[in-house]
Amino acid sequence: MNQDELKALVAQAALEHVPEGAIVGVGTGSTVNCFIDALGGIRDRIRGAVSSSVQSSERLAAWGIRVFDADEVERLPVYIDGADEIDGRGFMIKGGGAALTREKIVADLADRFICIADASKRVEVLGRFPLPVEVVPMAAAQISRRFAQWGGSARLRAGVLTDNGQEILDVHGLSITDPLAFETEVNQWPGVVTVGVFARHKANLCLLGTPQGVQTLRF
Ligand code: 5RP
Repeated sequence: MNQDELKALVAQAALEHVPEGAIVGVGTGSTVNCFIDALGGIRDRIRGAVSSSVQSSERLAAWGIRVFDADEVERLPVYIDGADEIDGRGFMIKGGGAALTREKIVADLADRFICIADASKRVEVLGRFPLPVEVVPMAAAQISRRFAQWGGSARLRAGVLTDNGQEILDVHGLSITDPLAFETEVNQWPGVVTVGVFARHKANLCLLGTPQGVQTLRF
């Protein structure tokens, strides 16, 4: 199976975790696109979705799935999203698609975070994937210097503005051995909107697509 087939496999498997009549939290990315397409097939069995990006909202709407604003709901039973990396404790790097801030907001509304990913995303230590950080533009240079003190090399993602009108720094060369402490510290830096380490909002479960089938990891 190729990577696209593995993504489709885990997207289909995620449907089992969608409660009847629910409003579902929906993430962003190519794996989630497969999930939205699968969700389209059962759209009569859900009330709708809260989405983490304009891109996902448009795809949901194209399937006739009602998209609620985040402030229209108090809780979501489940949030389903991909990841750029996931470790053995359910900690993740996210934001490859620049949607990390809204992803964290929707994840915060949800009782459970279900990560859907192909096996290439499973790592021992987070950091091989350049860490996305959404920043207020005037703070980008200062934040880059702080990462340099930690051995990280931050590069502005050229030509990209997030759905929130901010910029993305991609930080290369990090090895994030304590994701919780890392996220807590970087969140304090002025001008950081969201750091792409998901430790406080880690996955509760990961459906990992492998050549042998879907592996379920519980954290
Ligand atoms: C978007 C994300 C995505 O979940 C992450 O980039 C994985 O994307 P894909 O499923 O395309 O590999 O965090 O901001």
